[in-house]
Parts: sequence; C-alpha cells; structure tokens
Amino acid sequence: MNNIISVKDISKAFVVKGGFLKPRCRVLALKKISFDVAKGSTLAVIGESGSGKSTLAFILAGLHRPDEGEVIFEGRDLIRLYDSDRLIRKNIQIVFQDPYNTLNPRYTVYDTLKEPLLLHRIVSAKKVKDEVVKTLETVGLRPEYLDKFAHELSGGERQRIAIARAVILKPKILICDEPTSNLDLSIQAQILNLLLDIRKKDDLTVLFITHDISIASFISDNLIVLCDGEIVEEGKSECVLNDPQNSYTQSLLKASLLQD
Ligand SMILES: Nc1ncnc2c1ncn2[C@@H]1O[C@H](COP(=O)(O)OP(=O)(O)O)[C@@H](O)[C@H]1O
Ligand SMILES: [Mg+2]
Repeated sequence: MNNIISVKDISKAFVVKGGFLKPRCRVLALKKISFDVAKGSTLAVIGESGSGKSTLAFILAGLHRPDEGEVIFEGRDLIRLYDSDRLIRKNIQIVFQDPYNTLNPRYTVYDTLKEPLLLHRIVSAKKVKDEVVKTLETVGLRPEYLDKFAHELSGGERQRIAIARAVILKPKILICDEPTSNLDLSIQAQILNLLLDIRKKDDLTVLFITHDISIASFISDNLIVLCDGEIVEEGKSECVLNDPQNSYTQSLLKASLLQD
C-alpha cells in the first residue's frame, strides 16, 4: 500500500487552568494514536465532541506540537522539520468548521486568496490574478466575488472561499475539520459534492473529520473512530458501518439512524 502519511504513537495533553475551588487538571486529548493514510484515499475521522478530532487535525497541519510520536509524510517526520523545511507544510492544508472565524474581516476575497499564493511563491506576481480567478471557478464562484468581504458572503460561500484558500496552494493532503457542521442541510450537500469534485480533479488525499457517521459513509474509503483520544475501531468504511465491532461505534450508528 502506498501511504502518503503515517501517524505513529501520537499523544497530546493539555493543562487546563483551575479556577475558584477548581484544581488545575491535565486532559489527555490523544493517547498514542497510530494510523496510515493511503495516497489518494479519503479517511474519515469520526467521534463525538471532545474525542480529540480537532487536536489530531491541528497536529497534522502543524498548528499543535504533539508531546510524543511522529507524523511521517513522504518519508519525513513533520514534527521535527527544520524551519527551512516548513515549506513542505504547504502540502497539508486545513479547512475549519467555522469559516467566519478564519477569514480576515478586513480582507476581500481577492486578498484572502492572493496571500497564500504570494507567501509560498506558487506563481509569479503577474499570474496571481489569473490563478485566483481560476481557483474561484473551481469552488463554483464567479469573478464578481473578488471584491467582496467575508460579511457580504453566505455561510456556504464563506466555506467555498476557505476551501479555495486551501486548494490554491495545490496541497497533497486536505484536512476538513467538520466543514459542513455549521451549514444548512441543503448547503451541506453542495459543499460535500464540491469536495468530492475537487478530490477527484486534483487527486487529493483527504482527511475528513466529522461527528456524523452518515456523512462519513458518503465521503470516505476508510475510517477511524476516536473515543476519548483513542482509536476504538478502524477499517474500510463500508465494512465498519455494515458491521461495527466496537460498542461505541455501534452507539454512534444507532444515534445517527435515530436522527434520520
Ligand atoms: N487548547 C486547548 N486547551 C485545553 N484543552 C483543550 C484544548 N484543545 C482541546 N482541548 C481538550 O482536548 C479534548 C479534545 O478536544 P478536541 O480535539 O477539540 O475534540 P473534538 O474536536 O473531537 O471535539 C477535549 O477534552 C478538549 O476540552
Ligand atoms: Mg473539533
């Protein structure tokens, strides 16, 4: 199997400050997690709120440092890269749950998409505008959007811009941390379909984080189930969802069927 990324024994703890009559405590967000992601596949990471999904996403995107463990990307340990090697980080991009918080309110759409291109010198200054317009088109928006600010966009449009900002760097891996949880149902489907189109077109490897097992079954080839910072089940999505072995996965599936 051709793995693009291998996560080995990653652990991460947070110290939570105490307050009045509340002692300081240590939360173990991830406990020796290991898994591989095959190149070009989509892996769903499923778990309830607080199970450690975002902590994992942040570590893979280089936004948190784990206490121990390795993240091997194309043969190199991402955690121990020298600063000069951090350019390879451009290969792993992330789309967050709430694009409103991650888009700069003072930036137009053009500014937002231009910045990563210039920072990583993806194209020459002359070609920046063409590349921005092309990427806008990829996410289903017309060039008229270039001059709009985040507050002038709908939730779905904002998420399209966040996706555009990630894919404009032509990453090899796209991490989506519950990208549709804050959207209306009909918009959720549009954004999921957009991600499926982009994945196919760019041959992307995707890590799709969700608490919604029905979305996971729609979008992923393989899945891992996180519970309290540990992987309790993993395998081909179809097999796990048809015949879950772990009682936690079974309860997630039951809860999702009740909702439908
Ligand atoms: N920056 C942080 N400071 C303190 N605790 C944190 C921080 N980030 C996450 N946690 C804790 O780590 C655990 C896992 O959180 P998180 O990774 O956000 O879970 P999920 O994304 O699955 O909801 C939770 O108990 C959460 O409270
Ligand atoms: Mg989260």
